[in-house]
Amino acid sequence: MLSTDPIRHKANQELDSDRKAEWGQFMTPDATADFMAGLFDEPTDAVRLLDAGAGVGSLTAAFTRCFPASSVTAECWEADPIMCGHLVPLLDAVALRTPGFKFSVRKEDFIEAAATELISRKMPRFTHAIQNPPYAKIKAQSKHRHILRAVGVETVNLYSGFLALTIHAMAKGGQIVAIIPRSFCNGPYFKLFRALLLRECSLRRIHVFESRNKAFKDDAVLQENVIIRLDRGMPQGDVVVSSSAGLDFDGCPSRAFPFSCIVKPGDEDLFIHVPAPTDAAALSFSPLCAGTLKDIGLEICTGPVVDFRMTDDTRREMEVGTVPLLYAHHFKKGVLSWPDLAHRKPNAIRVSASSRRWLMPSGTYVLVKRFSSKEERRRITAYVLESTDLPDDLVGIENHWNVFHIGKHGLDFDLACGLAAFLNSTATDQVFRIFSGHTQVNASDLRKMAFPTQETLRALGKKAGKGPLAQEAVDTLISEMEITCGNA
Ligand SMILES: C[S@@+](CC[C@H](N)C(=O)[O-])C[C@H]1O[C@@H](n2cnc3c(N)ncnc32)[C@H](O)[C@@H]1O
Repeated sequence: MLSTDPIRHKANQELDSDRKAEWGQFMTPDATADFMAGLFDEPTDAVRLLDAGAGVGSLTAAFTRCFPASSVTAECWEADPIMCGHLVPLLDAVALRTPGFKFSVRKEDFIEAAATELISRKMPRFTHAIQNPPYAKIKAQSKHRHILRAVGVETVNLYSGFLALTIHAMAKGGQIVAIIPRSFCNGPYFKLFRALLLRECSLRRIHVFESRNKAFKDDAVLQENVIIRLDRGMPQGDVVVSSSAGLDFDGCPSRAFPFSCIVKPGDEDLFIHVPAPTDAAALSFSPLCAGTLKDIGLEICTGPVVDFRMTDDTRREMEVGTVPLLYAHHFKKGVLSWPDLAHRKPNAIRVSASSRRWLMPSGTYVLVKRFSSKEERRRITAYVLESTDLPDDLVGIENHWNVFHIGKHGLDFDLACGLAAFLNSTATDQVFRIFSGHTQVNASDLRKMAFPTQETLRALGKKAGKGPLAQEAVDTLISEMEITCGNA
């Protein structure tokens, strides 16, 4: 069997590092390429294979390793001459070893040429596509953006542009296996891409890497990637989700989830949730959970004070006419430490005509940091800011916080304590990770999660208090409550 790893390493040494990032030249190791090829059904007819952004040809080579007896005509697109210098000899070598294999190499810009061919209907319809597309932002006024728009593809990144064109180039029933960043699963920028993908294809498989640096470990790419399998124009059934720690795919856990667990019925944003295959709880909503924040009468906003817009009003220390200004660093290990004069950031904000509207009335709020670090065990860490914690009847809450409130006012104490405990539980963290692939904790993601009723949260809050509690203590409380609620 022909391994492409040595060729990949050789090409990697020849690539210019700036261009490598600009062109998204991160190549697939053989182990991942073989796993991807294995996600196709065994072909029964002649295969017309598309490999767009083919690099040195690792994915096409893996396809032929997986299905050596099939008749395969591959079309490999690669715009970089260095890559092409390796791609053509590699495909020649594959053809020598694999009797049913034919190929053509298109040394062109895939986005430009494929979009033009799709418009003029010259693009052949493919039965299979295997893909690791380049990852780079498409600028708003770029040629790529315009040409994609001309074929009805509105998207912000090369990878979604490649995949969107590939979807359009497939025959009915055509199968696509692609390794792409997980960022398309949520967020507003990829909404139109998700709509296209879910309208044109059924989602058959999602494979996640448990660690963000594993999929392309030779290139130190720190990005959460998923491998997906899509079938063009076929009815949607269950979705198989699997995961692996790294490139050892043997015996990795997998589970079939109803599509309603992946895209929630009625979700206009079409968020794609990726439950952990080991998470049986994801199959049903926890009996604790009653509805979204809105359903249970709570709201969330980002901290209203954007400090660089208010430098005239921010102050290092409290003085006459100022009120406290709270940054994320003011909570240390769950305990409020304000003011923090050792830190370079301000601790107070002057109440002025321009700042007044961004200040909140003093009250008991639940605060969640918007940016967790990769090292933190939990993505969500919630704190209770009690009305009596700070002097004054107004408070400035800086923009790196998410703030839970009711009509821009505080919550009652028990409700705030219960909400913070619920947010700090391992169960909530696991659910949150299903639909958030990044370390950012967005208010929009939290708005979509299911929460217990205010009554249940108050009961939890009475037991949990203001905290901070050890993780085990929070989780025990949550599971005790689940038993109570489940039996009720
Ligand atoms: C992420 S790499 C993947 C390479 C290969 N498929 C693999 O899995 O190893 C993406 C490839 O797309 C190529 N590429 C980037 N932009 C392109 C474009 N507009 N048209 C064609 N190829 C492009 C890059 O040179 C690079 O080889």
